[in-house]
Amino acid sequence: MLHGLILTTLLGVTAAWTPRSRAIARQGGEILSERYLPNVDKIRGVNLGCQFIVERWMAEDSWARMGCQNYNDEWACTEGIGQAAADKAFDTHWDTWTTEDDIKEIAWIGLNTIRIPVGFWIYEDLVWDSEYYPRGGLPYLDRLVGWCKKHGIYVIIDLHGAPGSQSPNEQFTGHSIPVPEFYTAENYERALKFLERMTNRIHTNANYTTVGMLQVLNEPVRTAAFRDKAADMIENFYPQAYQRITDMEESLSVAKADRLHIQFMGTSWGAGNPREYLPSTEMAFFDAHRYLSFDNSITPMNKNGYITTACQDHMGQDVVVGEWSLSVNSTLRNTAEFRYQGQETWYRAYWAAQAEAFERSDGWLFWSWKCDGTEDWRWCYKSAVRAGVIPNDASLAASLSPCDRYPPPGS
Ligand SMILES: *[C@@H]1O[C@H](CO)[C@@H](O)[C@H](O)[C@H]1NC(C)=O
Ligand SMILES: *[C@@H]1O[C@H](CO)[C@@H](O)[C@H](O)[C@H]1NC(C)=O
Repeated sequence: MLHGLILTTLLGVTAAWTPRSRAIARQGGEILSERYLPNVDKIRGVNLGCQFIVERWMAEDSWARMGCQNYNDEWACTEGIGQAAADKAFDTHWDTWTTEDDIKEIAWIGLNTIRIPVGFWIYEDLVWDSEYYPRGGLPYLDRLVGWCKKHGIYVIIDLHGAPGSQSPNEQFTGHSIPVPEFYTAENYERALKFLERMTNRIHTNANYTTVGMLQVLNEPVRTAAFRDKAADMIENFYPQAYQRITDMEESLSVAKADRLHIQFMGTSWGAGNPREYLPSTEMAFFDAHRYLSFDNSITPMNKNGYITTACQDHMGQDVVVGEWSLSVNSTLRNTAEFRYQGQETWYRAYWAAQAEAFERSDGWLFWSWKCDGTEDWRWCYKSAVRAGVIPNDASLAASLSPCDRYPPPGS
């Protein structure tokens, strides 16, 4: 009871329920909820990219095995090979892409969190007759989070493919189209239903007790061409998403200590300030994606420039860097300076510099855990560990970081 009081007080005092405050609260001795990070106060994790939304560019072999080789994305493949054949092919994929051994290995190498990108179509009745998505994924999500619970892994579930597609020309939406159609009241409502149902599932299915965060939308539009859509989303979708998730928790009488963090792309993403219209920021959390490979402002654009930039990054508080990689600019990727072959030592430093910087915020989730093939490990954590690039203890970033030597004099 006394512990309970102390915990309640601690939780009440902190502005937002961060993984850090939850870890502190747990030291009170009583476990009120499993939706916290065990033992450590930083998120160190990986994305399970390609588990529920296959992106052809990082899974060419699997894509071909599924019979999708003539198609660009999940929609095109489902339409192209037919619903029944797609359901069967994706079923095999969902069953085999991530195994319990993967989750065990993730825990073994010092990672504490996974982010699971999911398409809205995992709730099949939200899909319109005119749309093409594979069916039958949900039991595999139930199983996957069950493994995470069993092996002590904290989980972020992320609405990664939204109704109508939220981002132009992206395989990760499931339907790559030039003009995103998410930004309508009808499609917002479908996404809100997805969030409501996922919230219900998280709180009522015993496999989901280590799911601590629900991300309402991955990577919405942010360029000048789509400014109105981004503004509409910030004003209408974000506050409703917050409201519908918390209303669902209210209706289920979820105890305060057991509530979910609700995650939005942070201001750094460039779609606007997610806090602007939220009814409250209690339990709100923010996602920063930081791909140095897509940053054309790195100077000089050489190894020193990459490390110096990485070392100086600070993405803010109540922020986790939900996506990053070891990649570099596409024009440099295969040059003598940057080709991955034989450069394990430099890429290890590049990993450590980034991870250390992101741990000044609330931590990081690498994109991604696994890719097809193991040759180029710059997007593939599992292969990078096998190759000796990323250490098999994810907590070593600060001790391996070269940042105390950067920038080197005269560079
Ligand atoms: C929960 O997860 C386990 C795997 O740990 C799985 O075998 C089981 O079917 C899941 N339960 C439900 C209700 O989905
Ligand atoms: C980085 O890549 C882009 C294309 O992806 C290219 O336009 C740009 O020039 C590259 N920057 C450098 C310095 O190579």
